[in-house]
Amino acid sequence: MNKKLIAGNWKMNLLRREARELARSLVQNIDEKAVKCKVMIAPPYTSLDCVKEVISGSIIELGAQDVFWEPFGAFTGEVSPPMLVDVGCSWVIVGHSERRHILGETDEHVGKKIKAALDFGLKVIVCVGETLNERKAFQVESVLERQISKAMQELEEVPSPDCVVIAYEPVWAIGTGEHASLSQIEEAHHIIMNKLIEHFGKTAHNIKILYGGSVNEDNAQYILRIKNVGGVLVGGASLKAKSFLKIINSCGE
Ligand code: PGA
Repeated sequence: MNKKLIAGNWKMNLLRREARELARSLVQNIDEKAVKCKVMIAPPYTSLDCVKEVISGSIIELGAQDVFWEPFGAFTGEVSPPMLVDVGCSWVIVGHSERRHILGETDEHVGKKIKAALDFGLKVIVCVGETLNERKAFQVESVLERQISKAMQELEEVPSPDCVVIAYEPVWAIGTGEHASLSQIEEAHHIIMNKLIEHFGKTAHNIKILYGGSVNEDNAQYILRIKNVGGVLVGGASLKAKSFLKIINSCGE
């Protein structure tokens, strides 16, 4: 069954004690029998192990916010796919716009990271999305097509459709309180799916496409009902147990 995915990106927030508390509050208050979606949280590297301990045995899965493409070696400051597996991650987010725009990550880097993560059995959330200037210049389609084709460049097929998830995150909607309109989301998801089909053929239909960018406990229910939306990637609203649980609970099949 292709359940939707509700993913929380904690970004560079929370010390270990706070991370443990948030995870504990999620585990204690999540109604596992009623929940109809998959749930993933991505704390900073420093809290992965302690959060793993808390969520172990629950339905909540652990993800990292980034990964490097080499398994070991002289790459100061980087963390590799086998290291993430070792600490208990089953997911990793790749190509987040903050990494692309603040830290200079390129489409090529993103492609290499996806391939390496999949090779080590991690599931990957690949973030794509246009800037405001690109939207104003009517480049949404070309930007999304380029990001998807470069991201998938090193993959001839998806190991399983569940292993790769795309997150459409318009840069102008991230952390601004202004989410994309329902028609903008539907249109972008359509562009992304067409590009995936062009690359992988019919199996692409099973690849989930999430929306991310100012999702909160009030708008999630509407966004999750849009055709082709396979879940949401949540930043700010995933830092409070109450709002993240409300988003989880607003998810139907
Ligand atoms: P936001 O972040 O929900 O705070 O807008 C989303 C994201 O960056 O993934």
